[in-house]
Amino acid sequence: MKELLDMNRIPQHIAIIMDGNGRWAMDRGLDRTFGHKAGLDNLEQVTTVCSNLGVKYLTVYAFSIENFNRPAYEVEALMGLVLSFFKMQLFHNNNVSFHVVGDVERLPQSVQDKLRSMVEETAMYDGMAMTIAMPYSSKQELVNVSKTIARKVQNGEMNIDDITEDTISENLWTNWMPDPDLLIRTGGEVRISNYLLWQCAYSEFYFCDCYWPDFSEEELHKAIISYQNRQRRFGKTEAQIEAEAEEEVNNK
Ligand code: IPE
Ligand code: IPE
Ligand code: MG
Repeated sequence: MKELLDMNRIPQHIAIIMDGNGRWAMDRGLDRTFGHKAGLDNLEQVTTVCSNLGVKYLTVYAFSIENFNRPAYEVEALMGLVLSFFKMQLFHNNNVSFHVVGDVERLPQSVQDKLRSMVEETAMYDGMAMTIAMPYSSKQELVNVSKTIARKVQNGEMNIDDITEDTISENLWTNWMPDPDLLIRTGGEVRISNYLLWQCAYSEFYFCDCYWPDFSEEELHKAIISYQNRQRRFGKTEAQIEAEAEEEVNNK
């Protein structure tokens, strides 16, 4: 599979909805929380593989704000896993910086502290940026952006007519990263469950049935190959895109 990858066209930013942990565990007669543990183990593998491929940004959906509505024991188990799980070696060995996006203040204080210390400890790494979205809701993010901009207008810091697409992007939790090129969802559901709605306006989507703990290096390669076989047109025609590509080759 790997030989089919075009190493010159690796997506710069991959976003992943890591779904299917609970079903993975239940298929094995295990409690759902074992699936979350297996899912985090797999996140380590996928982070290393993406970093080795030269991906610059990997942004994974680990917990939605809606996931707080799950049974308390599952939410607690997940928070406990986050506290105990991440081995800093992963970041040190791969030159990967760690980041969080979301309404972090809704997390238990111990989890906030742990995530903040990971961010600080990896801030000097300039390889891939690995971001965990937790607890994240795209609609909530856009509500916050609306309030921030409305306040600026109210205070006279900004005119309504100066609001542009960039104004929105600059006020998102993700304001420091480019938009995802490829959005992957594992676990068989074909929906985006409130993830990066603004940011994925022109992302390529890839859905697969495989549960997240089983999403292997080979599965990732399949997703990237699918991405590489598409033409991103951004509203233009196929002929225009081909002419632009030709011009680029001629200018080299
Ligand atoms: C994704 O797996 C992880 C979280 C939402 C925290 P799920 O826990 O949703 O697994 P399924 O979809 O029930 O199998
Ligand atoms: C989305 O998965 C959130 C994460 C993967 C963290 P869910 O399993 O919560 O999504 P729905 O509820 O099936 O849409
Ligand atoms: Mg799910």
